[in-house]
Amino acid sequence: MQPPMPRGPVLGWDCFKRPNPAEKSELDTFPSVELLPHKTYTTSGRAAIYHALRQLQLVSGRLVLLPTYHCPTMVAPVLLAGHQPSYYGIAANGLPNLDSITPDQARLAGAMLVPHYFGIPHSLAEVRRWCDEHHIALIEDCAHTLFGRAGERNVGAWGDFATASLSKFLPVPEAGLLASGQRPIAPLNLQEQGTKAHTKGCLDIVEMAIVHERLTGLNTIGNAILNIKLAIKRILRGKNTTPTASSNCRPESGDFMPACDMARINFAPLGISLWLTRKLTRHNIIRRRRENFLLYAQLLNNQSGCRPLMPDSNTLSDQCIAPYVFPLWVDDADRVYHELRLHGYPVFRWDRIWPGTPIISGDAGQQWSRHVLQLLCHQDLQELDIKKTAAAIQHILN
Ligand SMILES: Cc1ncc(COP(=O)(O)O)c(C=O)c1O
Repeated sequence: MQPPMPRGPVLGWDCFKRPNPAEKSELDTFPSVELLPHKTYTTSGRAAIYHALRQLQLVSGRLVLLPTYHCPTMVAPVLLAGHQPSYYGIAANGLPNLDSITPDQARLAGAMLVPHYFGIPHSLAEVRRWCDEHHIALIEDCAHTLFGRAGERNVGAWGDFATASLSKFLPVPEAGLLASGQRPIAPLNLQEQGTKAHTKGCLDIVEMAIVHERLTGLNTIGNAILNIKLAIKRILRGKNTTPTASSNCRPESGDFMPACDMARINFAPLGISLWLTRKLTRHNIIRRRRENFLLYAQLLNNQSGCRPLMPDSNTLSDQCIAPYVFPLWVDDADRVYHELRLHGYPVFRWDRIWPGTPIISGDAGQQWSRHVLQLLCHQDLQELDIKKTAAAIQHILN
């Protein structure tokens, strides 16, 4: 049986492979949030946003400006830090539409969270200027953009703080990054996790690798152990369980805050995540993501009923070093998305908009949350996975 398509990076022996000399010279100097002078690790991107807000020491109840196009894990940390989300609209390129922010919002806001959507970064020069004029701190959300250049600066260097989600780029169970090019980071006083959590973290990585047959030499024995583990689980629970490739699927309904799983924001990241973050090479991650992104562009460019969201998708600018997803605008998005999800394709949509998010005239965010499908293009999706997903989209649309 074919292993399922992985929803996130998977550990394999090749993750440790050093680049050959030609690739090394090209990719060793790539800009990354990880290279900012001040940095500290967290359990997740959402934890990093929470701690960025804590570092700012804003008065409780201050407004924090957030985009209307968001995933709930961008909003939950604001509420947990004791602040009030207040929303701005976005322009067609995903940058904040500064005209959508009212004078009252600007006066009452203490911080603004600005993401580089999909791993396609843009210059934040204008946003930075606006924040400075209004004495608002800028948190640059690099959850989708660990690597890249954002106009005149490297990604992460525009913000008072930058936040990143390492588990979206590296095969680690949980890890985020809080960094800054401008301000030292005060100690976060994170709580160490126990032996059980560390062991579980290691087993989760290995389990995922075995499910996807990535640890050559250990796959057979690993599968046997996995089957025994599943059989025990089934007996204990008295019902069927099947291995899942997904570490980041979110519940489809229910209350927003519990679904955001914020319980570990004050924990220190697992030792295995930190160790792998230090040891894993980055060149293959970058190369494979670019290949997958460009393959999507090539396969879907002329398909009727959909279009690449970003106009320059078939070239990938030199600013966009490692895309996170291929964003695809689909006219009949509800039907296509539900069909794709039903069959387990690695695609998602930000359609769970936090209650109270306003409808702003001319805002691209509102349309994106319905029409934009985010097609994962991470390094552990094979060429065949991309082709199958694109073919499924074409089949549904035709
Ligand atoms: C733009 C953005 N910011 C922050 C986050 C939170 O990152 P994490 O899942 O590591 O908590 C996400 C998660 O999907 C995201 O897409």
